[in-house]
Amino acid sequence: MKRISVMTSGGDAPGMNAAIRAVVRTAVAKEVEIYGVERGFQGLIEGMLRPLNARSVSGIIHHGGTILRTARSAAFREEEGLSRAVRSLEKNGIEGLVVIGGDGSYRGAHALWKHCGIPCVGIPGTIDNDIGGTQYTIGFDTALNVAMEAIDRLRDTAASHDRTFFVEVMGRHNGFIGMCSGLAGGAEEVLVPEQPFDLPMLVETLRAGVARGKTSMIVIVAEGGDGGGAYEVSQKVAEASEFKDSRIAVIGHMQRGGTPTAFDRILASRMGVSAVENLLAGASGMMIAAVNNAMVPRPFEDAWNTRNLFDPEMLQVLHTLGV
Ligand code: F6P
Repeated sequence: MKRISVMTSGGDAPGMNAAIRAVVRTAVAKEVEIYGVERGFQGLIEGMLRPLNARSVSGIIHHGGTILRTARSAAFREEEGLSRAVRSLEKNGIEGLVVIGGDGSYRGAHALWKHCGIPCVGIPGTIDNDIGGTQYTIGFDTALNVAMEAIDRLRDTAASHDRTFFVEVMGRHNGFIGMCSGLAGGAEEVLVPEQPFDLPMLVETLRAGVARGKTSMIVIVAEGGDGGGAYEVSQKVAEASEFKDSRIAVIGHMQRGGTPTAFDRILASRMGVSAVENLLAGASGMMIAAVNNAMVPRPFEDAWNTRNLFDPEMLQVLHTLGV
């Protein structure tokens, strides 16, 4: 291959810039030209490509977001969008593509490869850590640490006022951030999409805390659970019990921004190098997965046919320690 391109797609995640840097500099080292696609698949449809070099990615390893910007493209799911994207690649002489994003982005990359024969390699980038086949995704560790820091801060004020807080964290349909931030932040309870919502049990947990002498408590509510978000859960608890004066904090998109942790920068750098090496060696329809601390190519299908689940033992640990 003489010329390849790189894009970020779907929700941004801290560490994506470190991955872009690694892809660009590996391509340069292998004497392959590298183009950046702006705004993901939407930008590809619109022909937003520009050449990059080693200096284009200077000073970005420590920045959150993505210098290539990103988008969730509905047009790409239509045949017309796909063929316009292929025309953009052909017009620019691009022979292979590295896609940094979540499983939705892999569906786009898979279509490019299967229907149009464009070799594509994926890099898992999403704060949700919800991509099957890889133990970690770029951005999860940073988002987890942001959530944990928020919980620590809320703990100070909760303890000072003898209050209960319901803290909502992100994760779409996956409880990784909720479970891990709850455990790291010493929460009394976590509500995650993987477990059915049980209002009587939650009220019982809060009452048991009071009975043991707790004057303040923190309940983590992962978005996507069947009990609703932090506002809904707090209202249900208020209607069903004496816990009527709780406070709510929704951390939201703050989890997606800011300086990536060392873990995410290292993961992104290793995945970026591996993605280009595999693409140039002829791999396609593969994502680079982190498995037992090694970077290994895995078929895209693993991303959507399997689920990355937290170890349920963590929930038991939280309940044992949150007394
Ligand atoms: O997939 C990353 C994520 O931040 C999820 O945790 C969240 O549900 C979703 O994206 C929010 O999407 P948007 O930025 O489009 O509101």
